[in-house]
Amino acid sequence: MILHVSHLSKTYQTAAEELQVLQEISFSVRSGEWLTIIGPSGSGKSTLLHCISGMTKPDKGSSVKYDDWELLTTKEEEQQTFRRKHIGFIYQDYRLFDQFTVLTNTMLPLVPYEAKDVLKERATALLKQVGLGDRMHHVPSQLSGGEKQRAGIARALINQPAYLLCDEPTGNLDEKNRDRVIELLKELNNGGTNILIVTHDKEMMTHGHQTIELSYGKQLQRDGAKGNDPLYSG
Ligand SMILES: Nc1ncnc2c1ncn2[C@@H]1O[C@H](COP(=O)(O)OP(=O)(O)OP(=O)(O)O)[C@@H](O)[C@H]1O
Ligand SMILES: [Mg+2]
Repeated sequence: MILHVSHLSKTYQTAAEELQVLQEISFSVRSGEWLTIIGPSGSGKSTLLHCISGMTKPDKGSSVKYDDWELLTTKEEEQQTFRRKHIGFIYQDYRLFDQFTVLTNTMLPLVPYEAKDVLKERATALLKQVGLGDRMHHVPSQLSGGEKQRAGIARALINQPAYLLCDEPTGNLDEKNRDRVIELLKELNNGGTNILIVTHDKEMMTHGHQTIELSYGKQLQRDGAKGNDPLYSG
């Protein structure tokens, strides 16, 4: 699958003003690529990831196509099905449910769509992979920030997604866990998973096939992969 994002703009309406946080963003991600998104705080990085998954609706005229399939004009129910099958999302603010254990949180995206024992086995393996084997039966309020972040990573992988959208996935991790997450992402990417990652981590930035930089919602022109990419339509 190829992801084509074109002329993507987003304006938030608040009581006081209209705030345009993304302006005419365009890029393509080929099958198996790793795209890094950088830019200062408030430049629209999280908003961009949320728009690509369809969880935030961008402005009219924006397009997000997976191959020839336009996500943005598709019915909400079909978008949800697409997300469940193909997208994993690591949230900057974790978004775990406090009433459930870490194990249940990890299984949740596919309950009731897959057999419980299969899900439990997969979730357990993922939690061990991110170093949370001994925290599976805790609830999120009993976890540290870094542990919550890793629980969010395990949950994002439960559906074995073709697209893994990562919003600062190592922001709260110590060096050991950060290295573990980098290794995991590299392994996934080598296995064909598309990685779209927002990061401030200098080392993480070196792993991608292409980088886009946002500044006040605008896409800065960069040298390198994007400039040579015949698919790039911006
Ligand atoms: N729901 C909303 N309503 C109004 N404004 C919003 C909303 N969500 C985000 N914003 C504003 O949009 C801008 C971009 O936010 P966004 O979260 O995408 O930035 P970011 O680049 O991810 O920043 P950070 O690096 O701090 O995570 C910010 O100025 C933010 O205040
Ligand atoms: Mg953000």
